[in-house]
Amino acid sequence: MILLTGATGTIGSELARLLSKRENTFRAYVRNLKKARELNIPHMDIFEGDLRDTKALDRAMLGISRVFLLSSPDPLQVELQGNVVRAAKKAHVSLIVKQSAFGAGADSPVALARWHWITEEDIKKSGVPYTILRPMMFMQNLLMLAHDIGVEGLLRVPMGSAKSSLIDARDIAKCAVKILTGEGHTGKTYELTGPEAISYDRIAEALSEVSGRRVTYVNTPLDEVNVEMIRNGLPKWLADDICKLYEIFATGKADRVTTSVRDITGEVATDIRKFARDYSVVFTKEVIHH
Ligand SMILES: NC(=O)c1ccc[n+]([C@@H]2O[C@H](COP(=O)([O-])OP(=O)(O)OC[C@H]3O[C@@H](n4cnc5c(N)ncnc54)[C@H](OP(=O)(O)O)[C@@H]3O)[C@@H](O)[C@H]2O)c1
Repeated sequence: MILLTGATGTIGSELARLLSKRENTFRAYVRNLKKARELNIPHMDIFEGDLRDTKALDRAMLGISRVFLLSSPDPLQVELQGNVVRAAKKAHVSLIVKQSAFGAGADSPVALARWHWITEEDIKKSGVPYTILRPMMFMQNLLMLAHDIGVEGLLRVPMGSAKSSLIDARDIAKCAVKILTGEGHTGKTYELTGPEAISYDRIAEALSEVSGRRVTYVNTPLDEVNVEMIRNGLPKWLADDICKLYEIFATGKADRVTTSVRDITGEVATDIRKFARDYSVVFTKEVIHH
């Protein structure tokens, strides 16, 4: 049986939906039962537990052969994910699929990238077979900017004219399901990107087509973006960390495209115009309300 962590989140809930279509029961390890039940996903055996709870993790691993490892950005991330790795090792799990991030590395100035790297190394040292997914920034991050886009027609990001190969999170879930249910991915690390590297002007164009108004990209100073993220509820450490990532990506480091999504799923990765169309309700909702 497959065990998912992070099943109530962006990628995890999509992955759970895809797995449920196979009509085989899988288990979801969740800390919020209500949220998990409201997803209303058939064939999902909901197991209540926090990643801090090592005893619950041991129980949840009974009968599990493959694990999907994902949790939220959290200063305790290394410890929480380490708990899953140790429980998986004890249970002789045959594969951990670890959601990491593009640029994960020991020397990254971005804390999240270093933490992901530490867990990747933990898994390798544990001896449990693994596949690592290192996705680029998600297109879904644009949903957090939907208010500015819909109401003001402004896309405020500190990326200059740099291009990035943003990926649709649904494609990450598609890759994960193929790996969790297939063979031939053990020991591999995949960098997952969208189908093309695009500037934020191009992203604004795609959003203009669906939001019912002209959307303009405004190259915004990092400190303004930082303040805005904190105002929107992000903890300061995370806003600072994301700004460091923007700083790196604004130098062109995200201008790289891989074919991994197509190689793994056999399907072309979702482009920004399709993403914008699929989420058009979110970008137009704000116009209607104001
Ligand atoms: N956003 C990007 O552009 C980007 C790019 C590359 C990599 N990543 C990486 O992708 C991951 C985030 O993916 P996502 O957006 O799908 O995540 P998400 O929507 O934030 O969901 C996180 C999931 O982890 C669960 N979780 C967190 N702490 C837990 C705990 N202590 N016990 C049990 N469950 C816990 C959450 O449960 P609740 O629902 O109860 O909170 C939720 O199901 C992060 O590792 C991030 O670094 C993100």
